[in-house]
Formats: sequence, structure tokens, C-alpha cells
Amino acid sequence: MPKAIELQGVTFGYDLRLPVVEDVDLSIATGEFIAIFGPNGGGKTTLLKLLMGFIQPQKGSISILGKTPEEARSEIGYVPQFASFDKQFPISALEVVMMGALSLPRKMATERALKALKQVNLESLAHQPFGTLSGGQAQRVLIARALTTAPRLLLLDEPTASIDMETEREIYTLLLELRKKMTILMVTHDLHSVLERADRFISVQRSVHIFSSEEVCHHFVHGLYHPPRSL
Ligand SMILES: Nc1ncnc2c1ncn2[C@@H]1O[C@H](COP(=O)(O)OP(=O)(O)OP(=O)(O)O)[C@@H](O)[C@H]1O
Ligand SMILES: [Mg+2]
Repeated sequence: MPKAIELQGVTFGYDLRLPVVEDVDLSIATGEFIAIFGPNGGGKTTLLKLLMGFIQPQKGSISILGKTPEEARSEIGYVPQFASFDKQFPISALEVVMMGALSLPRKMATERALKALKQVNLESLAHQPFGTLSGGQAQRVLIARALTTAPRLLLLDEPTASIDMETEREIYTLLLELRKKMTILMVTHDLHSVLERADRFISVQRSVHIFSSEEVCHHFVHGLYHPPRSL
């Protein structure tokens, strides 16, 4: 079986003289649940964009599920970092989820969206205006939107930012359920909460390193990032 994600010598910079990520080697197996951490501006979102083929590396190669990122895109679900909607905008939870299936005929899109809402346990709120949902419910709707295409790889950019602990736990329970069916990469600033839950950890701050939970230094958990000491 091809690796879920394979990067070799990947370097990318928005400005060529200033790489955001440099010489990245990564190999992630199918079914892994990976937490990505690192300082603000370290390149976490950039790394996700490379995986989806929204931007191309200047050096190195990226393989997703054995294909190029562009070819694999239909098998990737993405929950962006800042998905804000105008609270007044009259759109139901179901319609937000349907945005993930725009290429499908309406009837099929509705079916897929309802199924995805069921996966995140929010069927009952399908017709409620999106703007009236709680932060955690809204986040689950955005995860459902990423699930409409039944992705094999799910990328989430800080899905637990600005929600309370109880809701955060709900999101983790959901992700641990979803991981039985797909590879998951999640950006988070709350390393403490994922330490017991993720299989491995990727630090991104220009250079990219992958760690097992035993190797995650307590400095990282407290938000102090440094390169690995002895790997
Ligand atoms: N479209 C862009 N054009 C130019 N520079 C960009 C662009 N997007 C990001 N950058 C820069 O690339 C660097 C990495 O940004 P990125 O968004 O990947 O960081 P991040 O780790 O996701 O940060 P955060 O934790 O704040 O979300 C930053 O210095 C940022 O200013
Ligand atoms: Mg980011």
C-alpha cells in the first residue's frame, strides 16, 4: 500500500530567497493520526497547502496516497484555519456542509451532506441557521463539510482553537472515531491535549521534524520550540 504522505527534500518559500519550510523529509503511513505544532508563522498552514497542491515546492517531491497532490486532491478533506461566516448570513448547517459537494447534483449533494452531518452527530441541527450554532457545533459542521467527499486523508488546521475544553473533547472523540477510516493530520497549539491521542507529532518551524510521543520534549508542550536534541 502506498504511504499516505511522502515528502522528499521539500523546500518552499513564497519568496524564493526566504524558505518557509526547508528540506523536508516526511513519511506518514495510512491510518496515522498526526498532530502538527510549532510557533506562529512557522509554516504549518503552508505545509498543509503543499500537501493539497495549492502551492508547489521549489525543490523536492511530494506524494499523497501514491499520487501527486493535484491528483489526490479529491481524496483529501480540508478544514481551514479561519472559516468565519457572517453570523447574519441566512444559511443552514446543511447548506454549509453541501458546499463541500458542489460538484455533485443537488440531490446527491444533499444525501452526502446529511450523511456527513450524521457522522459528526449533528443531523438534528441540519436546518438550523449556521450563525446560531455554538462554536463547537459550527466546528463540527465544518468538519462535516470536509467529509462529504469521503476523504482518505483529512487535514485540519487548528480545529480546536477558541472552543472550550468540553467541546474540544467532543472534537477529539469525533476525530478518534474518524481515524479508523482515514489518515488525519491536525494542526494544534494545544500539544498537551493531543499528547495521549496522536500517534506521532510533527514540529514545523522552517525545518520539519517528526516525533513519537516519548520524544516530544516537555518544552514543546509549554510552547517553547527547539530542534530535536538527539534523533
Ligand atoms: N500567501 C502568502 N504570501 C506570502 N507569505 C506568506 C503567505 N502565506 C504565509 N506567508 C508567510 O509564510 C510564513 C508561514 O506562514 P504559515 O501561515 O504557514 O504559518 P503557521 O505556522 O500556519 O502560523 P499560525 O500558527 O499563525 O497559523 C509566515 O511568515 C507568513 O507570513
Ligand atoms: Mg496557520
